[in-house]
Amino acid sequence: MENVAVHLVETEADYAVLDNLLWQVLWAPLGLPRDVRSRFKVDGKLVQLLAMEGPYPVGGAVAIWKNINDAELRHLAVIPANQGRGIGKELVLKMINELKRRGCRELHTYARDSSVAFFKKLGFNPATERLLDHEAYIKYGIAVRLMNKQLSINCNS
Ligand SMILES: CC(C)(COP(=O)(O)OP(=O)(O)OC[C@H]1O[C@@H](n2cnc3c(N)ncnc32)[C@H](O)[C@@H]1OP(=O)(O)O)[C@@H](O)C(=O)NCCC(=O)NCCS
Repeated sequence: MENVAVHLVETEADYAVLDNLLWQVLWAPLGLPRDVRSRFKVDGKLVQLLAMEGPYPVGGAVAIWKNINDAELRHLAVIPANQGRGIGKELVLKMINELKRRGCRELHTYARDSSVAFFKKLGFNPATERLLDHEAYIKYGIAVRLMNKQLSINCNS
């Protein structure tokens, strides 16, 4: 993590880099089309983060919020060769701080089955014991679990 820096995506160029990274990590392995992200689109204000190691993008995160009680961590991805270095955790913590700065009090995510343990470590609680079939993934056989985290003003995460 020493050489990795996380920043807010505020330019078209950064947006394109993040968009490509998300596609490579999340959707290309499923054989989904390059424009799939636009098909998953929902309304709301975007907060987007990019993790860079020097000139190389290594991870990214996207949250969408409609009001202070309704924020969703929509996408989170770390390049496979860089997983296990603390980058995913750093992206989630930075996202939480950014959302708190905007007044958000609750964050939820539809965690892929394989990342539920990761989110539990970061204090997310399963909203239900049942795995849900998210409309965006049902077709591809990916089970997801709705998980919530309260964003306390006084704690670091
Ligand atoms: C899930 C993902 C974002 C985690 O990012 P990462 O950078 O590899 O995770 P980190 O190195 O920050 O891990 C933080 C902690 O969670 C643990 N962890 C990470 N992935 C885990 C997993 N799949 N299951 C259990 N624990 C996990 C780490 O061991 C570490 O624990 P520690 O703090 O006790 O050392 C990354 O693996 C990824 O991009 N996966 C593919 C896409 C995906 O599933 N995205 C999730 C949203 S759908």
